[in-house]
Amino acid sequence: VDGDHVNALVIGSGYGGAVTALRLTQAGITTNVVEMGMAWNTPGPDGKIFCNMLRPDQRSYWLRTSTDQPLGYFLGIPANKAIGKYTGVLDSERFSGVRVYQGRGVGGGSLVNGGMAVQPLRSYFEEVLPSVDPKAMYDTYFPRANAALGVNYIDPAWFEAAECYRYARLSRNQANASGYRTTFVPNVYDFTYMAREQADTVPRSALASEVIYGNNHGKRTLDKTYLAAAAATGRLSVTSQHVVTAVKPAPAGGYAVTMTQIGTGGDPVARKTVRADRVFFAAGSIGTSKLLVAMKAAGALSGLPDAVGQGWGNNGNVMVARANHIWDTTGALQASMPAMGIDNWSDAAGPVFAEIAPFPTGVELWVSLYLAITRNPQRARFVFDTGTGAVDLTWQTAQNQPAIDAAKRVFDRLNATQFTVYRRDLFGPNKIWGDDFTYHPLGGCILNQATDNWGRLPGFPGLYVVDGSLLPGNIGVNPFVTITALAERNIEKIITTDLS
Ligand code: FDA
Repeated sequence: VDGDHVNALVIGSGYGGAVTALRLTQAGITTNVVEMGMAWNTPGPDGKIFCNMLRPDQRSYWLRTSTDQPLGYFLGIPANKAIGKYTGVLDSERFSGVRVYQGRGVGGGSLVNGGMAVQPLRSYFEEVLPSVDPKAMYDTYFPRANAALGVNYIDPAWFEAAECYRYARLSRNQANASGYRTTFVPNVYDFTYMAREQADTVPRSALASEVIYGNNHGKRTLDKTYLAAAAATGRLSVTSQHVVTAVKPAPAGGYAVTMTQIGTGGDPVARKTVRADRVFFAAGSIGTSKLLVAMKAAGALSGLPDAVGQGWGNNGNVMVARANHIWDTTGALQASMPAMGIDNWSDAAGPVFAEIAPFPTGVELWVSLYLAITRNPQRARFVFDTGTGAVDLTWQTAQNQPAIDAAKRVFDRLNATQFTVYRRDLFGPNKIWGDDFTYHPLGGCILNQATDNWGRLPGFPGLYVVDGSLLPGNIGVNPFVTITALAERNIEKIITTDLS
């Protein structure tokens, strides 16, 4: 409520925010989470909370009048369609040189993502975050994060027989035959639920083309794990459909946090300011960086270090698809949750970890799709436009060339050994590489550079960064387990040293 004074305010309810909310409330601290997206708990007219990939409606996208699918073309023809403008669950936020996909709603990215729960290679973690004790991470915080997230492994025997993973087995066999190592990837989607889906004993979700616009069943999203546990303490309040627009020191102490309540059409309903003793920035790499860069430029937090807004990367993301021979079917029924990856990270000339991605259209298309994570050293920064008051990102599509070069080494060889070709019709007319968007925005407020070694913003006691903006642009695998584990490490320290 406008004028309130609260103890701890968390901006955003994704991984960083959910970890913070649970550990603060468990420590006895009343915690208020403010989230710009909706609380996805009410079914629509079709009886479902989320729509699927095949028939996206207004629930799919954040305030757009047409869909903006990552694979926006088929046979080179635009495949997007008109939808109602609504506070949908997936945002494709456009900057001048990149589209950044993000989850919107209570649970953040966990609502829309593929659930792949991957721990980074220890040697690479040590390289990108040299100020963090790796032993503590790998002995304590990664296990803590995996347990609380509900990470589980697929039964390899079931995988070998499952109709819905024909696409993954084909890609695996082709990769192995080309000399590449493959590995199972853990997930937060309940694989035992998926087995029951295939046996037709429960409502289908992963087997009903549900992903990126939400899953109606099976996935252990943050609202069911961390946030549910925080709510059970009785000390959590979550306010959805409120966009935080400003944070500045309050004359009475603490910080004044200004927010706009919005309706489902994005229309402003009310403006509120609350005073918070402590503010935790958990709005994601993009959301947190944009807010802090704008506050620094506007003079509200002018003493923030120059490193704020720097060091953003796309985790080396690039997508690509191959066309298989007519006898190499990928299956009409495809599990929308990936379960396997090609691990070529040890190739010094171009490290690649490529998730074998589904193409769950419900019909046989002979397409093998991949999301490659590469070691792209390119970085960008956030800049405040004094004219418009907007924050842009300096990233240009051409900066993704190192990612393409690395992925091309792997997939050129795969095509050569399999006598197959790239699909050129899915990312644009005659376009092989999906290089102009990312699912993995990272950085902008890097640990031990823009913050201290625990996420505290220097010069502003009581301000903390707890999300993916702390990671330096690249982590080599899908990022949410690392974001969660780092948040666990930092909040433990903050609670013991700053809050007790
Ligand atoms: P996150 O983005 O989760 O949360 C930030 C929250 O803050 C959002 O809910 C947002 O609405 C809110 N917010 C932002 N600005 C705000 C403001 N001003 N006021 C109020 N609220 C605000 N990763 C992985 O490890 N495995 C995977 O399989 C996938 N797959 C995948 C698929 C797709 C389609 C996407 C888009 C992403 C993935 N990811 C993924 C990435 C993963 O989801 C992502 O890295 C994390 O969600 C990031 O966690 P954070 O806590 O940093 O922010």
